[in-house]
Parts: sequence; structure tokens; C-alpha cells
Amino acid sequence: MKLTIIGSGYVGLTTGACFAEVGHEVMCVDNNAEKVATLLKGDIPIYEPGLAEIVTKNVAAGRLKFTTNTPEGVDHGNVVFIAVPTPPNPDGSVDLKFIEKVAREIAPAIHSYKVIVDKSTVPVKTGEKVTETISRYAPDAEFDVVSNPEFLREGCAVADLMNPDRIVIGANSDRALALMQKVYEPFRAPVLATDINSAELIKHAANSFLALKISYINAVSAICEASDADVELVAEGIGMDKRIGRSFLNAGLGYGGSCFPKDIAAFIAISDDLGVPFNLLKEVEKINHDQLERFIKRIREKLWVLEDKKIAVWGLAFKPDTDDTRCSVAIELVERLVAEGAEVRAFDPKALDHVKNSPLGDKITLCGSPEEAAEGAEAVVIATEWPEFANVDFDKVRDSMIAPVMFDGRNLLDPKTMERFGFEYHGVGRGLSTNQ
Ligand code: UDX
Repeated sequence: MKLTIIGSGYVGLTTGACFAEVGHEVMCVDNNAEKVATLLKGDIPIYEPGLAEIVTKNVAAGRLKFTTNTPEGVDHGNVVFIAVPTPPNPDGSVDLKFIEKVAREIAPAIHSYKVIVDKSTVPVKTGEKVTETISRYAPDAEFDVVSNPEFLREGCAVADLMNPDRIVIGANSDRALALMQKVYEPFRAPVLATDINSAELIKHAANSFLALKISYINAVSAICEASDADVELVAEGIGMDKRIGRSFLNAGLGYGGSCFPKDIAAFIAISDDLGVPFNLLKEVEKINHDQLERFIKRIREKLWVLEDKKIAVWGLAFKPDTDDTRCSVAIELVERLVAEGAEVRAFDPKALDHVKNSPLGDKITLCGSPEEAAEGAEAVVIATEWPEFANVDFDKVRDSMIAPVMFDGRNLLDPKTMERFGFEYHGVGRGLSTNQ
């Protein structure tokens, strides 16, 4: 099928590449000429495992094209996906100006029946607005609007897209639904067909539920610390109940990234707006905020004074397998340590360039390896659970530090093993671990 994706950011680019990979003819549109030129050269502006390979392969096969020209894009596809950013307003509500602009831009370019798909995460009832807008700017256009939310996780976006748990298609027309089912046929995934409003709600409700699971276990981790219990065992015990499941019950510094903080704030704003405040989610946000505060308090309690202390921070990305530092709790942690006068020496396998080019880059020392960051440090803090941090030479790290103190903000390491290596170890919610 001929498909168009408007917006070549994280979601748009990965979705376009995966559609091409299953055989569709895809045209990706982006108004950023520099980005399109980069993509045409075969350079991928983001780090996402497996993405560069499928982009290169499908560009070479002629199934994946890039343009800055919206009418050309609209002309190309029978189905036109909108995958532009939906950034937050200062009050947490969603700024829909890019969606509105795209709706206005595509309207006059519709010359035959098109399915216009909202892929971006949008508040419920945005589909109605997109329909209204296109009809206003092109009263004769023949089209249907569909909501088809994206559930991909950064770091495994290609795998999530190629093998999705489910495809949600919110359509109010059989013709549009039939075309969308054809788009997704090659993926052989379960399809849930809904009305547009329900599909839009599914995205915010799913992300909020996942964030709720994280905040739940983080709240339990505080109780574990206060009662000498181990949150890892508690998570295992409750996760063995199939109705609960073990995933997203990893206690740590809390959730970050470009989606959860924004989507939870948006769902709170949407529910307030609808006159049905979702107060539970306000608590989810509060627990997430408190989690970092409690961790910093713990560091302060153990190191006493942070001013002039040399602290190594392992991990800056908001989670492993990505170079994304947007709303990264690791970055927030480093900023807090710097504000308290600590000398931070940081390492991240993928995010160093982002941080180097940010204001924080001048305030900390960026190192080439976790071992280098730990040299001469008075404590190591693990802020992102990159698996390689569990495989460093801990004898060497311990010997190179002034004092072997380890604050594991992601419970990546085993407390007993770290004790054997001679570290004073502090995890999250591990009341029974060493030296607490
Ligand atoms: C999330 C959703 O998972 C995805 O379905 C949606 O499309 C976009 O938002 P993403 O932001 O890529 O994806 O990351 P995810 O893997 O969900 O992690 C989000 C944050 O939660 C990270 O900061 C991670 O460290 C944290 N997290 C996750 C925990 O603290 N504990 C967990 O158990 C799981």
C-alpha cells in the first residue's frame, strides 16, 4: 500500500521504516529540511537499535522516501499518518498547534479519498477537531479520520513495531477501518477496533497505568526501607500473580522520558477539563517526584556534606538502550548534585554527546568509561541501568576510588556481591542490604 507519514521524529521515522520493511511504499514528510537532507544521506538522527539498518535497506529498495513537501506526501499515500510532536503546555495540558497546522496543510492537498490517521498521542476528542479543521479548509475533501495510537518503547521501538501486543484502530467508518486493517495485515497482530474517542483514551490510560505500576512499587520501596524488607523480593512475590505481572514493577529513581511525565500530566489535565478529576494520577506524579528526593536525601545522609565531594554518576539517558535525555531522572539527579556543590564525573554509553552540547556539559566532567568516572570518586551513583555497568571490573573500580560507596538508583547490582567486592552498597527499597 502507499502510505505517508507526516513528521519524521521518533515515532514517525520508526513507524515509516517498519511499514516499508513489511512491503508498503512509504513517504515520510518533515518540514525540517536539514533533517530530511540528513535522512536522504542515510544518516539517522537518533540512536535506536536496528533502525539504521532498516532505514538504509528500505531506502535502497525504493520503498522509503523522504520529502519536505506536504502536498507531494498527501498525494502519495492512501493513508496519511500524522506523527508530529504534541508538547506539553506549562499547565500540563497538550499543545496541539502542530496537529492543527498539519490538518490545515493537508486539507487543500486532498484530491481523492484519504484516511487521515492520528498517530501522535493526543487528548480524547482531537480526532473530532482534526475532522472539523480539514472540512473547514477543504469542504469537498473526501476523507475519514482515524486514531491509531503508538505504543512503542524507546530502545526497542523497532521490535515493538514489528511485533506489537495489539493494534488499536479507532475509526467511525467501515471504509477507513478496512483500509487500516490492510495496512496492518502483514504484522499479524491482534487488532482492536474501536470508536475514535476510545482509541485516543486507550493511549493515555495505558501509559498512566504503567506509570501507576512504577509509582506503586516505588511507594512500596519506601515502606521496605522503613521496615527492613527487600523491594526486589516483594516485587517478585506480587509479580508472580498473573493478574499483576512482574513487568513495570522495577523500583528505582522513578520514571522519566519524553512520554510518561508528559502523558500523565496530560491525562490529569484532560480529566480536570472534562470535570472528572483523576486524583489517583496526581498521587502517581507525587510519588515519582518524592522518589528522587528520598534518594538524594539518602546520599546526603551517608556522605554528610555534598559540597566538593567527587561523585561518579553512571548513566544519563532516561533509560538504557537510548541516547535520549529528555526528562531524564538521571539528568535531574546530576543537576541536583551539582547545585549542592558536588563535583560530578559522569559516563553514559550513548548520551554523552547530548549532554556535552547542553548547559550541563560545562558543569560536569564527562568521562569515557564508568571506570574513568569512578577514579578518585567518593561515591558512585547508578542513575540508568545500562547492563554493562554490572560487568565492570569492580576490584579495579574500588581500588581507584577514595571511598568505595555505591548508590544504586536502579537496583542493578546484587547487594551481597557488592559487599563481597568491599563496597558500602545502598540500593532502593533494599532495607536488608548491606550497611543500611
Ligand atoms: C513508554 C511506554 O512504555 C510506551 O508504550 C509508550 O508508547 C511511550 O512511553 P518509553 O518512554 O520509551 O515508553 O519508556 P519505558 O520503557 O516505558 O520507561 C519509561 C520510564 O519508566 C523510564 O524512565 C524507565 O526507567 C522507568 N521505569 C520503567 C521504571 O522506573 N520502572 C519500571 O519497572 C519500568
